[in-house]
Formats: sequence, C-alpha cells, structure tokens
Amino acid sequence: MLNCSELVICVLLMISVYGSLVQPAKLCPSTKSCTCSKTMGGYASCRGAMLKFIPVLPSYITILDFSRNRLECINASTFSNLKELKLVHLDLDSNEIKIIAPNAFSSFSFLRILNLSRNPKLSPSIVADVVAQINSSDFNQIKLDRMKWNTEPTELYTALSRFNISKFVLRENNFINLNLTFLSENLPHIVEIRIAYGILSSIQPGFFKRLEKLNLYFNQLRLTRDFFGSRTTCYYPRLVYLNIRANVIYDISNLFRCLEKLEYLRIDGNPILRILNYTLIQLPSLRVLSMNDLGFRFNRIEDRAFQSISLRHLIFRNNSFRFKDDVFYHFNQSEIFKYSPNIEYLDLSGNTFYYIDVLQDMLSPLKLLRDLQMDNCKLRTLPENLFFKLPNLISVFMANNRISRWNGYKVFGNQSNILTLDLTGNVISDINEKLFPINVLKRLSKLSLGNNPFHVHVLIYGFTIGLKMKNVFFKAIRNRTIVKHHQEKTESDALIIIMVEDVSEESMSSSLRAFVNSSPVFNFPTKQYEEGPFWLNLIKLLREQT
Ligand SMILES: *[C@@H]1O[C@H](CO)[C@@H](O)[C@H](O)[C@H]1NC(C)=O
Ligand SMILES: *[C@@H]1O[C@H](CO)[C@@H](O)[C@H](O)[C@H]1NC(C)=O
Ligand SMILES: *[C@@H]1O[C@H](CO)[C@@H](O)[C@H](O)[C@H]1NC(C)=O
Ligand SMILES: *[C@@H]1O[C@H](CO)[C@@H](O)[C@H](O)[C@H]1NC(C)=O
Ligand SMILES: *[C@@H]1O[C@H](CO)[C@@H](O)[C@H](O)[C@H]1NC(C)=O
Ligand SMILES: *[C@@H]1O[C@H](CO)[C@@H](O)[C@H](O)[C@H]1NC(C)=O
Ligand SMILES: *[C@@H]1O[C@H](CO)[C@@H](O)[C@H](O)[C@H]1NC(C)=O
Ligand SMILES: *[C@@H]1O[C@H](CO)[C@@H](O)[C@H](O)[C@H]1NC(C)=O
Ligand SMILES: *[C@@H]1O[C@H](CO)[C@@H](O)[C@H](O)[C@H]1NC(C)=O
Ligand SMILES: *[C@@H]1O[C@H](CO)[C@@H](O)[C@H](O)[C@H]1NC(C)=O
Repeated sequence: MLNCSELVICVLLMISVYGSLVQPAKLCPSTKSCTCSKTMGGYASCRGAMLKFIPVLPSYITILDFSRNRLECINASTFSNLKELKLVHLDLDSNEIKIIAPNAFSSFSFLRILNLSRNPKLSPSIVADVVAQINSSDFNQIKLDRMKWNTEPTELYTALSRFNISKFVLRENNFINLNLTFLSENLPHIVEIRIAYGILSSIQPGFFKRLEKLNLYFNQLRLTRDFFGSRTTCYYPRLVYLNIRANVIYDISNLFRCLEKLEYLRIDGNPILRILNYTLIQLPSLRVLSMNDLGFRFNRIEDRAFQSISLRHLIFRNNSFRFKDDVFYHFNQSEIFKYSPNIEYLDLSGNTFYYIDVLQDMLSPLKLLRDLQMDNCKLRTLPENLFFKLPNLISVFMANNRISRWNGYKVFGNQSNILTLDLTGNVISDINEKLFPINVLKRLSKLSLGNNPFHVHVLIYGFTIGLKMKNVFFKAIRNRTIVKHHQEKTESDALIIIMVEDVSEESMSSSLRAFVNSSPVFNFPTKQYEEGPFWLNLIKLLREQT
C-alpha cells in the first residue's frame, strides 16, 4: 500500500522536475513545508502548508507567501524567525487570524505590501491599530478582500494616512456606505480604488486629485447627478478608467460630467432604460464604452446618444434591443452612428435585427470600422451594399445567426477587404461561387463555417496553399470548420472538394459528379492511426498542385 508520505514525495518530485524547467523553486534548507527561490528578489512560499508557526527561512527572502496556514494569533514573536530578513511583501491570506498585536509588524522596516485578505475574524479596528504601527516608509499597499466587514473601515483610512498609498482594494465586503470625502482626505496620493463585489449603496463624494482608476463594480449604487462633480468642483480630474458595472444605475443622462480625461467606461449590467441625446458628449476623451447586459427593459437610443468624436470601441452586447422603430423601441437607422465616425470596433451581438436593410444605413457612416461583431442577432442573411463601402472593415463575426444564403456579389462587391469572416453556427447548407465570388474568397485569410448543416458537399476553390497552413488546416477540419489561408506568393488555383460526409453519386449535382470522377479521391480514414498518413498525402497533393 502506498502511504501518505510516498505519495507526497512523488508529487513533489514531479513538480520540481517540471518546475526546474520553468524556475528553480526548491525546498527551503530548514523546512520541508516551504519552497524557496532566488528569483523575484528572493521568494518563499509556504502556501497551504497548514503551519501554526513561521519557520526559519534563508536571509535572502524578501517575499513570503504564507497564505492558507493557521496563524490564529499574531504578535511580534510570531515573526521571530524572520528577524534577519528584509521582507518587502508578506502574504497572510486565509489564515483564520483572530487577533494581531498592534506592534506585530513594526520590525519590518522594508515592508511594502501586506495581504490580510480572507481573514474574516479580524475586525477593522484591529487592522487599523496594526497599520498604525507599521514602521516602514515604503509601505504602500494593504490587501483586504473578503473580510466580510459590515462597517466601513474609516479608522483604517486614518491609520493609512501616514503612507503614500497608491492602490486601495477592498473586494467582497459587506458595508453599505462609502465616505469618499473621508477617504480622499486621508489618502490624497491614491491612484486606484477598487471596492467591488459588495453592497455599497450610498457614497459621499470626495475630491481625488490623482485618482486614475475607479472600480465600484458589483455593488448596489444608483449614483446621483453630483457624483462626478458639482457646480464648483470636479471630483476626479485625472480619472482615465471607470468601471461601475452591475450596479442599479438606470439613468445616465447628465451623469457624466467633469470627466475630461476618461478613456474607458464600463457600465454593463445596469438597468439602464434608454440613452438620451448627448450622453457621451460630456466625455471628450472617451475611447472605449462597454454597455452590455442592460436588461430587457432597455428600449430607446436617441439619435445623438452616441455622438462622440473620440469613441473608438463600442461594445453594446446582449441588450436584447430590437433595432427597429415602433411603439416599444426607438432608434433611427440613419442617425444612430452618424455622429460617432471614429468607431473602429463595434459589437452588437445579442440584439435583434428583423430587417437586414437597416444595417446599410446604420453602419455606412463608420468609415473607420475594422471589426464588426454581430453574433446571435437573428440575422437571416448578410447585408448588401455595405461591406465594400467600409474600406477598413477586416473582421466580421456573424456566428450563431440564421443565415442560410446571400448574394455574394451584392454583399462583397468586387473588392472587399475582409480578411476574417466567421459564420459558425448558421444554417448554411451549401457553399458555392454565388455566395463567395472567387476574388472574395481569395482575399479571406480565415473563414469559419463550423457547425453549419452541410449535408452534401463543401467546395473550397481558389486554393493557394502552402505547407505553413497544415496545422491550421488539420485542426480546423477536425472541428468541422474550414479555414483557408491565403498566401501572396503562389498564383495557381487548385480546386479541392472536401466532403464532410459520405455522399452518394446520385445526390451530387452533375458538375460535382463530373469533377469527382475526374479527380483523385481520398476518403477520411476511419481508424485514428491512419489519420497521419492521410494528412501527409493531402499535403503532398496540395504541394503538387501549387
Ligand atoms: C505571542 O503569542 C504566542 C502564542 O501565539 C504566545 O505564546 C506568546 O506568549 C505571545 N508573546 C507575547 C509577547 O505576547
Ligand atoms: C522603526 O525603524 C527604525 C529603523 O528603521 C528603528 O530604529 C526603530 O526602532 C523602529 N521602531 C520600532 C517601534 O520598531
Ligand atoms: C492577496 O490579496 C489579493 C487581493 O487583493 C488576492 O487576490 C490574492 O489572492 C491574495 N493572496 C495571494 C497568495 O496572492
Ligand atoms: C507616491 O508614490 C508614487 C508611486 O507609487 C509616486 O509616484 C509619488 O511621487 C509618491 N508621492 C509622494 C508624495 O511620495
Ligand atoms: C464623511 O466624512 C466627512 C469627513 O471627512 C464627515 O464630515 C462626514 O460626516 C462623513 N459622512 C458620513 C456619512 O459619514
Ligand atoms: C435628439 O436629437 C434629435 C436630433 O437632433 C432630435 O430630433 C430629437 O428630438 C432629440 N430628442 C430629444 C428627446 O430631444
Ligand atoms: C445575456 O443576458 C442575459 C440576461 O439578460 C444573461 O442571462 C446571459 O447570460 C447573457 N448572455 C451572454 C452571452 O452574456
Ligand atoms: C431618421 O432621421 C432622419 C434624419 O434626421 C429623418 O429624415 C427620418 O425621418 C428619421 N426616421 C425616423 C423613422 O424617424
Ligand atoms: C465588378 O467589376 C466588373 C468589371 O470589372 C463590373 O462590370 C461590375 O459592375 C462590378 N460590380 C460591382 C458590384 O462593382
Ligand atoms: C471548435 O469550434 C467551436 C466553435 O467554433 C469552438 O468554440 C471550439 O473551441 C473549437 N474547438 C477546437 C478544438 O478548436
């Protein structure tokens, strides 16, 4: 019978053999519970060792991961074995710590980062007392996720005010009020705040001269009109990134003011009902707007809602919005993107388009559009007279729609610049030159047609193929996806038919039958060990063709 220690040794050996290829992490000389490594400026990990004490560690260690152990009570003698170390980063995540003596960390005069996350038995006042006695002028980050605190740790803000704290993270806590007035007074140097996955519902605004990133996602915030600025003060003059996903904000008109530098805005998952005229115009630097999952009540986009010269990426996914103008929904197809001419990336997946014709009006002002994502939009065909009017459009994703056929000449015109076309999961049953005019297909470098009900045949023509693509080809075919790579150098066109299933001669069209009868035919092997030779033969054949 294999006993416990043998098993552990096996596992450790495997890890260290594997690990030695990546980085040299070995058992520490004095203890088998931890690994020591000279990389990263001296790193020791005793993660998950279930220790009740901190063992002796080599003096070069500056980073100690002591997460998932059992240090219930901590005082200065808990760290007596670390006296010789110049510890910079101490991680005590998940230790079931109940109490810490106030002076416990005062001998660490190089400490920069302290992680006390997931020790829910610690109260905010104990942590504040400990921080008040930290004796390192470099201290700049404390991590306190999942402490389950139900009062705002204001005494901690006071204790932290002695330090130059640049980042403050408190996720998964249970307090309702956030006093940003108080926080800003105590942490004036702060650059990033992340107070997320909580139940915040009220906030007192504060003035943050340096704040660049504000994350308040997954709370219960409504945000009042003066949240970002009042008539006299702009609260976040340097804010670049704002994430207020998954709160209960339903009205964003006139909300964003004074955010002159804001470039990224995420407001997904809020029960927003409509976007009114000039909502974005107050954000002169906005580049990326993500507003997904707004819920089924969202029903109105006013003509100048998206008016913005700076906007580059618009992600408007999964909003169940019906792009039509009737009693329940409003938008104007010729106006919606007329005033946002610099959009390069547009994601409208997960909305409904009953009439394909609206797309031509909607999207033709977007002359800089490069990527268009319209998965899952109930499309039945591809839009005509659109793609070739968008000279920069190179990727089109229209997977999981109900597309069966289209007029290739009207869709792609004579010259289309599209390189990637994804039509996975539609109802395309036949591929022919009407759908893909040959010069369109020649330009495409990736065409995904997986998960379509081809029951007769798939034709790939205009193949100019080199050995380089063999892996892509191989993988793609096995996934019932067809990927075609275009290589500039070779000129010749080979005609190749791949039949995804066995097809009887009777069910072939006469031209297909004639072609099949005049060409070599390889059947895909039924035995796995024959697959290798099959692909080799195919590649050889392709090589002879080019
Ligand atoms: C520190 O804690 C240990 C046990 O956790 C205890 O034995 C020791 O007396 C304490 N030392 C001081 C100075 O309180
Ligand atoms: C704080 O650190 C300094 C040296 O960095 C040391 O002289 C002093 O005794 C320390 N204070 C405490 C309370 O440990
Ligand atoms: C330290 O704190 C962060 C939270 O800020 C947490 O995500 C991380 O997993 C913690 N522990 C370790 C061992 O990194
Ligand atoms: C605070 O730290 C940041 C870097 O994290 C630094 O850029 C800034 O100058 C520091 N401020 C003060 C007042 O020391
Ligand atoms: C927020 O903090 C300020 C002091 O900075 C204080 O005057 C105010 O009463 C606090 N508000 C709440 C609701 O605690
Ligand atoms: C929004 O702007 C359009 C175009 O300027 C205008 O026709 C429409 O009436 C405006 N909507 C509202 C509610 O003012
Ligand atoms: C779309 O939104 C619904 C709720 O409105 C959600 O359940 C679903 O997971 C979302 N789908 C995707 C792909 O995000
Ligand atoms: C959309 O806007 C255009 C230009 O402002 C206008 O002529 C047209 O009537 C509008 N369409 C609808 C359905 O309101
Ligand atoms: C495509 O080009 C041919 C000649 O090169 C021209 O006759 C035809 O009208 C063009 N079609 C389109 C849709 O531009
Ligand atoms: C097969 O195709 C599906 C859908 O296109 C994709 O999600 C999946 O990752 C692919 N699998 C492999 C092995 O490439």
